[in-house]
Amino acid sequence: MRILGIETSCDETSAAVVEETGDAATPWVIRSNVIASQVQIHREWGGVVPELASRQHIRDICDVVERALGDAHTRWSDLGAVAVTQGPGLIGSLLVGVAFAKAAAAAASLPIVAVHHLAGHIESLVLENGEIPLPAVVLVVSGGHTSLYLVANPGQYRLLSRTRDDAAGEAYDKVAKLLGLGYPGGPVIDRLAKNGNDRAVHLPTTRLTHADRNAPHLKGDLDFSFSGLKTAVLRFVRHREAEGAPPLNDQEIADICASFQRVVVHVLIDRLFDAARRHQARSIGIAGGVSANSRLRAELEEQGRRREIPTFLPSLPLSTDNAAMIAAAGLRKFRAGITAAIDFNAAAALAL
Ligand code: KG4
Ligand code: ZN
Repeated sequence: MRILGIETSCDETSAAVVEETGDAATPWVIRSNVIASQVQIHREWGGVVPELASRQHIRDICDVVERALGDAHTRWSDLGAVAVTQGPGLIGSLLVGVAFAKAAAAAASLPIVAVHHLAGHIESLVLENGEIPLPAVVLVVSGGHTSLYLVANPGQYRLLSRTRDDAAGEAYDKVAKLLGLGYPGGPVIDRLAKNGNDRAVHLPTTRLTHADRNAPHLKGDLDFSFSGLKTAVLRFVRHREAEGAPPLNDQEIADICASFQRVVVHVLIDRLFDAARRHQARSIGIAGGVSANSRLRAELEEQGRRREIPTFLPSLPLSTDNAAMIAAAGLRKFRAGITAAIDFNAAAALAL
């Protein structure tokens, strides 16, 4: 069975064809995965502009879907279902994908599967590695999310904790902006940090001990918070300016990047392994845009080796937003017998 996946939750228009193999070790194979990135459009504004994003999705969606079908040598009549990101994300952007998927599914008489974007990120790990040992603890870390999930059974995602304020990727983007490094911030900070001293600037690590009033069902002590860290970098830079210091030179910028990155990676890894220990996880994963980070990847692997627990990461093309992961999560749901009625709607703040 082949499924068409569609993803338009943020600033990537993507369509993919994924095929079910019938083999438990590698359940799904990617036949195509076309991604039209809008990063050049939003770069000029220093971040994603929702209105520009939805308009660009409208321009790109038909061509992206046709290319995904063409690359996979697949006709509409070869498909068994259409899967689409229902949320969370930018509502205007989500609506483009949802409307397109509903129209296409109705026209081709195909069932439709509504997929949670973060379930897609989690399933990106299975897409490349086959089924991972369960229970697993998976950190989804991107520009919009920093959330820890417990996967006890295939397709079951239990939220353990999340960020109280900024997502980790958002902190990268904001710090890059205040250092004048452009958008998106993650890749450039990652690159510059390699030449910096990661102990040069003292920055705080946050450990939350109190429960979150907005999420009483979560214990709260595994939650994340990155806005204080971003503010600490801002204060450091402003303080220097106030003292009349010359503009930051390349080495000082590299030192700030390295120090910032050390703290972010430390906090993410610390909470992740803490959660794994508490829930007796048999494997650990990281997915989402920030999982492309070189230090995070290296530390995950090192800690996994040291604590003798298997760790999983997506390849770089599957770490950022893509439709192959949506197709995979869609196949999982479809096989569990869950499809959506044609009147389902996009949901900006969809819970998982
Ligand atoms: O998953 P994604 O493509 O989109 C969202 O759903 O947000 O993630 C994008 C985020 C951006 O904040 C970007 O700065 C960050 O991922 N990112 C990185 C790296 N590459 C991308 N952060 C740290 N290190 C990287 N190498
Ligand atoms: Zn994402």
